[in-house]
Amino acid sequence: MAIERTFSIVKPDAVGNNKIGAIYSRFEDAGLKIVASKMLHLTKEQAEGFYAEHSERPFFGALVGFMTSGPIMVQVLEGENAVLAHRDILGATNPAEADAGTIRADFATSIDENAAHGSDSLESAAREIAYFFSTEELCARTR
Ligand code: TYD
Ligand code: MG
Repeated sequence: MAIERTFSIVKPDAVGNNKIGAIYSRFEDAGLKIVASKMLHLTKEQAEGFYAEHSERPFFGALVGFMTSGPIMVQVLEGENAVLAHRDILGATNPAEADAGTIRADFATSIDENAAHGSDSLESAAREIAYFFSTEELCARTR
């Protein structure tokens, strides 16, 4: 299986609920290695750019408002099949439909405040990683 990198966000609801460590533990327990990490408070422009693919959707304004409502953690995760592995532990977009034991089932309250983000493809992952991190910020995990 291929070693991949994917992009992840702990969203403002989960940061506000003090769930950064609990969510990071889910990544590590799934065998995903954190190779870059930082806290940010997004501007409206940054949030709009990150979610540009959804700009015509009815929930776009609320999504940008939520994502700028408090600090977030952004991180790059590395591991075998990382994109799908991370989406699996994240769970469905709507926490009411997320499998038991997933991050969204356990830490999210609604579809619009759903605790965490994960890239949906290798192409999205590359774009999203580059949106927030320079190549110098990505660490090699050799031990
Ligand atoms: P989407 O890319 O469809 O979901 P995912 O985060 O699982 O890849 O949507 C991006 C975010 O937009 C989603 O995490 C929460 C928000 N959203 C809503 O608020 N309402 C909705 O009906 C949908 C589909 C998404
Ligand atoms: Mg998505």
